[in-house]
Formats: sequence, C-alpha cells, structure tokens
Amino acid sequence: MTTPVDNELFQRIVTFRRDLHRHPELAWNETRTATKVCETLDALGIPYRSGVAGTGVVADLEGAAGAPLVALRADMDALPITEETALEYASDTDGAMHACGHDGHTAMLLGAAELLKRERELPCPVRFIFQPAEETGTGAPALLEEGALDDVQLVFGGHLDAAYDTGEIVVHQGAVNASTDEFVIELAGPGGHAARPHETVDPIAAGSLIVSALQGLVARSVEPSQAAVVSVGQFDAGTASNIIASRARLRGTLRALEPAVRAQLLDAVRQIAESTAGAQGVSATLEIVAATPAVLNAPQATSLARDAAALVVGPGGVKPLRWPNLGGEDFGFFLERVPGCYVRFGAHPAGEGFPAHSSRFRFDEQALALGAAYFYHVAVRAGHALAQG
Ligand code: NI
Repeated sequence: MTTPVDNELFQRIVTFRRDLHRHPELAWNETRTATKVCETLDALGIPYRSGVAGTGVVADLEGAAGAPLVALRADMDALPITEETALEYASDTDGAMHACGHDGHTAMLLGAAELLKRERELPCPVRFIFQPAEETGTGAPALLEEGALDDVQLVFGGHLDAAYDTGEIVVHQGAVNASTDEFVIELAGPGGHAARPHETVDPIAAGSLIVSALQGLVARSVEPSQAAVVSVGQFDAGTASNIIASRARLRGTLRALEPAVRAQLLDAVRQIAESTAGAQGVSATLEIVAATPAVLNAPQATSLARDAAALVVGPGGVKPLRWPNLGGEDFGFFLERVPGCYVRFGAHPAGEGFPAHSSRFRFDEQALALGAAYFYHVAVRAGHALAQG
C-alpha cells in the first residue's frame, strides 16, 4: 500500500475525527462540526461558503484556470443512538452517536484537502462539499438547491464499511445503493360495532389484504435478477376489541436498484392499495413522504475511481461489490445531476465488528489514511481526464 498521507497528517486526521466522534450532532444540527471544518479550512487557506442550506460547508481550492470543477463530498451528521462502544472518545451526548462513520468521512476529506493544497499546480479546481443531514436523505437535495454542484463535471464520494477489510476499496460500476421511497397508506371507513360487521366496512381487514398483496409484489412482478424490496414496517389501527376501526395506517419502504423497477413498484403499490381497499369498500390514499434515488456510478468516473483506488491499495485491494446494498444513500441526488462514483472504504476493526447504525459500531482508523489518499488521487486523475477532454 502506498499513501501520500504521512504520519503527522494521519495523526491530525485521527484527532479531528475523535473530536467529532465525541461531539456528535444530528441531521441539520451540525453547527459545531461545521465550525470545526471551517477552522481547518481557514488554517489551510482554502476559501469556503459556510451556512450553505443551514449547516453545509462548500470550499473551492483553486486549480488550472478555466478548467471545470471536480467535487468531493463528505457527510457530517450523526444518528439518534446512545453509544455503547466504551471507546475513550465515545459520544458525550446521550441519544447521539456517529454510528455510521460520517465523522471519519469528514476527517478524511479534510485530509485530502490538505494533500491537494500542497500541490503546486492542480489540473482543475477542486470543490469540497461537507454535507449535513445524509441520514434523513434531505441534506443533498438542499445543498443542490444552493448550487453545490454548479460548474462541477465529476463528483466523488465514499463510505467507510466495516464489512470489508482495511486495505480494500470497493469500486463498482452501476447501482451500489438502492432508491428508497417511504410510503404511507391511509385507510378509512365509518367504523362500527365488532358484532355487526355487515353494517360497516373494515379498514383493518383491508389493510391486512394490502400487506399480503404487497408481499407478493416483488416475487411476482419484478424480473427475478433485479433486486427490490417492499416492506411494511408499521400498521396502526383500532382502539378496542369490540369496535371496528374507522382508520388504519400502513407505513412502509420500497427499495430498488433500477429506476425503471422503482417506477413500476411505486405504481403497483398505489394500484394495490386503491383496488384492494376499493374492493372492500374502504377509502385509501397513498402518499410518498421521503425518497432518495439509487446511487448509480457512471462508467468514466468509475474507471477513474478504480485507477485512484489502485494507487492507494494496489490493484489487488480494489474489490467488486460483494452484493448490492439496498440501504439508501442520498449521494444519489448528486449523481442525478453530475456523473460520478461512490466507493466503499474497507475498515473492519480488530476484534468483533458491528454493523453501521449499531450502538457498538466501530471502524479501523487506518482506513482514514487510505480514504484521504483516495480522494486526493481521484481528484487529480479526474482533473487530468477532464483537461484532456
Ligand atoms: Ni452513512
């Protein structure tokens, strides 16, 4: 493994990350985090805009005049979890924890900024995007509204992943994260006496039929090699055993890797809700309340990412995705606007590993050096590629 990250820089990255880890901030509250990012950018002499869409920070490092920009993105928010790692730098806030490694993403991107700043002449200007609120899927679209990708031609991001070993970087063309759509189905009737069901209609019975029909949706309507999931996670209804409820509410999530499958499933969920409820005489409304597109890595950007990763971990360390991830990631919003690539940095810690979003999640900090080096190399290579047209 070769990395341009010397020991002093590595120590700075780790110290910065541990400080963020101790002081986690939830989506849209990343004020201290953003201040720390700005302090580091000030020390590096890299100009930035702070307060972008609230708590975002967007910094531009100068490069060859007139060249298009390459953007690198890190997310900054923590999760509403109480930490149980017993790390010496564990969260000092109950109900907030960096359980997804975004503290590491922010620290490694600042490390890359320092490496790039050291270059006498960059082939293109580089934009560093420090994004709020990834976990709610709302930070990316808000930053885009504020022009975070204006003049950008390629964008790169990545995620620490304790399921892969340190020294592995996962680079994969095409879909790497699913689209996510949260749906809410409201069912309504006049209510009535449980002993006289013929006098009314039953939203609970209708809801049960809808859940059953949704179970068969992926199995019977999606091409079998395509990954997709429809799960109902919440079913609220009723007030007493002898009353036929007047309302029922189902909440669920719909995941798909292919945009066409996503559109097909969204249509089908609506149809099932309306027709199944209709057949029972119950009224149904469907609402999509939160949505992020799939993360689709573009061909040229993926090949640049693969080359950059090979410079950091050697060709043998560049791994294919073991299986597509049906988790969501709001980097998909960036990739809807501008081609780019989203990679995973292997970071399995010593001892037992716990998945992201666990109260015991940890990762190997050595991966931070590899991530910083990767972002440095991918920005330089992308800049050269853009300069050559
Ligand atoms: Ni995450």
